[in-house]
Amino acid sequence: MPQPLIAVILGSKSDMPVAEDALRIFEEFSVPYEFRVLSAHRTPDAVREFVQSFEREGGRVFIAVAGAAAHLAGVVASHTLLPVIGVPVPSSALNGLDALLSTVQMPGGIPVATMAVGKAGMKNAVYFALQILAIEDASLKRELIGFRQRMAAKVFSDEEIVKQLLKEKHDQTS
Ligand code: RP5
Repeated sequence: MPQPLIAVILGSKSDMPVAEDALRIFEEFSVPYEFRVLSAHRTPDAVREFVQSFEREGGRVFIAVAGAAAHLAGVVASHTLLPVIGVPVPSSALNGLDALLSTVQMPGGIPVATMAVGKAGMKNAVYFALQILAIEDASLKRELIGFRQRMAAKVFSDEEIVKQLLKEKHDQTS
């Protein structure tokens, strides 16, 4: 088993529906990763121990995924100099606004790169982590360039579909 380069820490098993797209992206880019469920509030010592051991073993980036009073990303960041990406989860009555503010409003000196609330934020957390790794990995960089090219091609082909639909509508009414 290669050493995981990206660690995803979920604050709870209940965050998994937001995080599951990450698995597909990691497989697509063949990047070794590790998933853990650890809570800043319920298992604070285990969070510190995991963060320190992941850094010691050669891990490169943390992604912390948590909802409600989401202190996980900030606590992870307090224990490491590796980059920490935070994903706020809409799991409470406040629908993620609480998690967003808890994750993004870090005091100066302990940065957390905070993504959007929910599934889009999770995807961007993974792509952002891959882009960090790609600074020193030319082959991963080429794969990310290919991914962007495929996304752009899809937009252009979708535009053609929309144009065709509009043409058909116009033809029907004229
Ligand atoms: C946070 O509290 C977790 O990240 C989760 O989003 C939320 C609720 O956790 P559970 O009560 O479902 O375990 O710490």
